[in-house]
Amino acid sequence: LVLILDFGSQYTHLITRRIRQLSVLSLCVSGTSPLKSIADLNPAVVILSGGPHSVHADGAPSFPEGFLDFVRDRGVFVLGICYGMQLLVQKLGGAVGIGERQEYGKMEIRVSKGDGEGGIFREDMVGEDKGQVVWMSHGDEVVTLPEGFEVVARSVQGGVAAIEDRRRRVYGLQYHPEVTHSTQGMETLRHFLFDVCGVAADWKMQDVLEEEIKVINRMVAPDEHVICALSGGVDSTVAATLVHKAIGDRLHCVFVDNGLLRYKERERVMATFQSDLHLPVTCVDASDRFISKLKGVKDPEDKRKIIGKEFIYIFDDFALELEKKLGKRPTFLVQGTLYPDVIESCPPPGSGRTHSHTIKSHHNVGGLPKDMKLKLIEPLKLLFKDEVRKLGGILNVPESFLKRHPFPGPGLAVRVLGDVTEGNALDILRQVDEIFVQSIKDAGLYDKIWQAFAVFLPVQSVGVQGDQRTHSHVVVLRAITSEDGMTADWYYFDHKFLVEVVGKICNNVRGVNRVCQDITSKPPATVEWE
Ligand code: XMP
Repeated sequence: LVLILDFGSQYTHLITRRIRQLSVLSLCVSGTSPLKSIADLNPAVVILSGGPHSVHADGAPSFPEGFLDFVRDRGVFVLGICYGMQLLVQKLGGAVGIGERQEYGKMEIRVSKGDGEGGIFREDMVGEDKGQVVWMSHGDEVVTLPEGFEVVARSVQGGVAAIEDRRRRVYGLQYHPEVTHSTQGMETLRHFLFDVCGVAADWKMQDVLEEEIKVINRMVAPDEHVICALSGGVDSTVAATLVHKAIGDRLHCVFVDNGLLRYKERERVMATFQSDLHLPVTCVDASDRFISKLKGVKDPEDKRKIIGKEFIYIFDDFALELEKKLGKRPTFLVQGTLYPDVIESCPPPGSGRTHSHTIKSHHNVGGLPKDMKLKLIEPLKLLFKDEVRKLGGILNVPESFLKRHPFPGPGLAVRVLGDVTEGNALDILRQVDEIFVQSIKDAGLYDKIWQAFAVFLPVQSVGVQGDQRTHSHVVVLRAITSEDGMTADWYYFDHKFLVEVVGKICNNVRGVNRVCQDITSKPPATVEWE
């Protein structure tokens, strides 16, 4: 196991993912975790992440007391990245200068010493003529090395870029090897893990699947039943398919049509559940219940909360019905929780964040009632989204389904600004969204985009159609690229594509006379408009 200690870098999850891409299991915990919880995980390698702090700042986070003795006694390899390296230098008796040489962005470094007996760089990376581009992002810099260390790479500006003490098995990189701008970053991690630390590449999705099935079969007794809410998204679908493979029809799924779904969505996802995946699923049409509760509600958070609550009532009813039918209560609940939802990350000081900061209430993350007394099965809780897609492939979930763009739990309610029940907003939005997304598919762009959708604005603008003055609705098109939804860039369409889409929308959707495109990244915007 490779354990990442998180000190708040925006790239920490990326380190975890890069290592998994090398078929090595890696987990991430807060950098300030107690020593016991680190030791219990029995890591072969510990990587200290970067972070936004200075090691000199009050309250700068650090690994727990006794950590350095622990790694020495157990022969654990340690790699510090950026802040992680500076922390190691400071704690081992070296010195870090405050903001003396700041390096941000792409930078060239030169490696002066290769692997020999366990160096972090391969021999063929060494040399004045073999400069490599890396991604730097630091204010402070190492000025004095702790005893036993040597500098093995410098930036062209002369800053310390990499250090090592092979005897002590402690290494440091001032730059971020996990970021793709670091041209040899992945190669360096590969060399470090396999050649230096002797880690085995033995973490495979097929093994994860088999292991999970065993775990579920151990957890759920032969006479116990399990329930699962399917959202139509990748996570709950893969989770349910996996549990179904383990326990068969003792799994009972429910899919709720809340009246906030996209064009023909209910028909489309139900067909996949039933014909392709053979999942035992009940479809509940609760659109009237949701829509009537949302009448007149304009505040985004109120809308989210109403939807979350209503969903719980419906889920409760489903469980009760099932109890009557089976003669006993279901005892487990499947949730498609992913690893990013459970990682406890180390927040930057002064950010006001504790371990996770609520910007919007995401009702499908841990929002089910405590008094349901159901035990949880979370078969995906150690996986990232791309890994869930891989697992779904092994489980024969159709490719088209696995590649679907994410869709928020509150559905179109967060894409109709204000009161969703006003006029025929939902209907207009469904048509516009369908045209936009279908055009993206036809142009072969769907897989290049993280999410594409339309938004309905509660305003009208003046237009002219067929010599007539119109006073109709404004819709917005939003398409973004992203790694994980946490940050995002807007997607750049060519003009011809946009002209055609706007033409199709205005010619086919009654009540729309103006189409805008949202070209805001996240931050400062969020992905959804509410
Ligand atoms: P935001 O709008 O927070 O969205 O930048 C980030 C990602 O999360 C999705 N999203 C949600 N997903 N329930 C969900 O399951 C929600 O309430 C919710 N709100 C936003 C959003 O579509 C994007 O992928």
